[in-house]
Amino acid sequence: MSQYSSKQSLELGIDTQCDLRSDTVTRPDAAMRAVMAEAEVGDDVYGEDPSIARLEATLAERLGKDAALFLPSGTQSNLIAMLAHCGRGEEVITGRDYHVYKYEAGGASVLGGCVLDPRRVEPDGGLCAADIAKAIKADDAHHPISRLLSLENTHNGMAVPLARCVEVVDVARAAGLSTHLDGARFFNATVALQCGEKALAAPFDTVSICLSKGLGAPVGSVLVGRSDLIGKGRRLRKILGGGMRQAGVLAAAGLYALEHNTARLADDHARAAELKAALATAGITDVRGDTNMLFLRVESDVQERLVASLTAAGVKINFGENEPLRLVLHKDVTDVGFAALLSAVRSF
Ligand SMILES: Cc1ncc(COP(=O)(O)O)c(C=O)c1O
Repeated sequence: MSQYSSKQSLELGIDTQCDLRSDTVTRPDAAMRAVMAEAEVGDDVYGEDPSIARLEATLAERLGKDAALFLPSGTQSNLIAMLAHCGRGEEVITGRDYHVYKYEAGGASVLGGCVLDPRRVEPDGGLCAADIAKAIKADDAHHPISRLLSLENTHNGMAVPLARCVEVVDVARAAGLSTHLDGARFFNATVALQCGEKALAAPFDTVSICLSKGLGAPVGSVLVGRSDLIGKGRRLRKILGGGMRQAGVLAAAGLYALEHNTARLADDHARAAELKAALATAGITDVRGDTNMLFLRVESDVQERLVASLTAAGVKINFGENEPLRLVLHKDVTDVGFAALLSAVRSF
């Protein structure tokens, strides 16, 4: 149990924050807000916002791609990618647990007439090359036209090794498919795999990056890739109502996050590893994740007790029935909050 309730801590000025529901809860800090306040802006729908242009150029350069497009969310970025790659009746092959299939409301089907073929996700978060070879349809009037392979890295806290991505991408390319990466947590993957950003992006025609998760910016995603696809994406963004005007204040936060908050993701990974070790000492060993997210599978009575004990220690968590318990480390978990978490787990 923490010594104080959250309300008492607040009154005493003790920062015990430990909100493990998601890394999307991170808030812009004072330094980020200062650069936002100073940002040069213009009308981005007219292509006149210098901060957005700088953000797009920075990410295109870092990932070794032609161009980039600033967007309001990761969902819109993935949707625009799928619609830029695929026409009506064309197919996206992806993982059945990947965000584009499970958590984006079927947008590519609803709005673009695309078909999604969700395939089994392997324990390391990647797809199986032989299974993808089977999923790619023959040129036959009965089938949708297989057009795009969409991968995810990191997936559920697992950094999928580059060689595993390349293996599957090679199968797709040999059959003439193009490739997209949902890299909502791309930098968690590069940091965990100690892999270059260009190298991890290289197998893909488009990569979607989120700035508003562990990087701590308040809003924004960027779709990076081949210039023809990004050009189509710009038109699609307008169609979807995602064109923003003086959004350079948001791009400035993104630039700040890219400069200051990518390397420090290693601290979140180290804390997750420490938490995993503490869970093991408490007898909880079915834990997946090698970056900033842990997924725990425990019996429902253990889950109930664990949730009660973490909640009593002031830790916020999301949990659902028949879903693994998800714990997400990020930059706004304070030292005091993390210590309270570890002590609650160790005494569990
Ligand atoms: C892997 C992955 N892709 C895409 C998204 C969508 O991002 P957004 O919430 O900005 O739409 C998320 C959101 O958590 C995600 O985890």
